[in-house]
Amino acid sequence: MNRGVKIIGNPKRVYLDDNFRVWENAILYTGDKGKIIGGKNSLIGVDCFINSGNNTIKIGDGVAVSSHCRLIAYSHHYTREDIPVIFTATEGDITIEDNVLIGSGVTILPGVTIGYGAVVAAGAVVTQDVPRRVIVGGIPAKIIKTIE
Ligand SMILES: CC(C)(COP(=O)(O)OP(=O)(O)OC[C@H]1O[C@@H](n2cnc3c(N)ncnc32)[C@H](O)[C@@H]1OP(=O)(O)O)[C@@H](O)C(=O)NCCC(=O)NCCS
Repeated sequence: MNRGVKIIGNPKRVYLDDNFRVWENAILYTGDKGKIIGGKNSLIGVDCFINSGNNTIKIGDGVAVSSHCRLIAYSHHYTREDIPVIFTATEGDITIEDNVLIGSGVTILPGVTIGYGAVVAAGAVVTQDVPRRVIVGGIPAKIIKTIE
């Protein structure tokens, strides 16, 4: 891990495989019931925020999560009037399969799986699962093209 990387919450719930690199000023947060799992030969770039809460974020092998990305694996229930929204949490594991490129400044929202070999173009907000071997981009992210 490089300078300025912070693991907040429960550092024992972060599992990074061989040659998993975390670049400057990234923040990894996981709760006592959450997990962040990183595969072999992958990276989390400068200034990323990886927030599993009490869910699981799994990053496969050979994955690049470029700089300034946000992976957010939970949200809040906003329909209840009897509980302050801050005290509620929704579930939403994030899975990034092997050999995926996440461009710079991407946000991945709860419950999303990015399929093998996909590319997420810079600046996208990913709200739904991405099939294998496609490029998606935009807000919300849509398929731009299929990788031949
Ligand atoms: C998606 C990307 C890989 C380009 O792939 P490509 O196969 O060369 O695609 P093209 O440049 O031919 O673009 C295809 C279409 O997607 C659009 N597009 C490209 N990048 C886009 C983006 N970030 N968001 C939305 N649309 C995008 C193009 O405008 C083009 O649209 P058109 O067909 O209507 O003209 C590249 O634009 C990108 O976002 N790379 C990530 C760079 C990065 O963050 N690097 C981090 C350092 S590791």
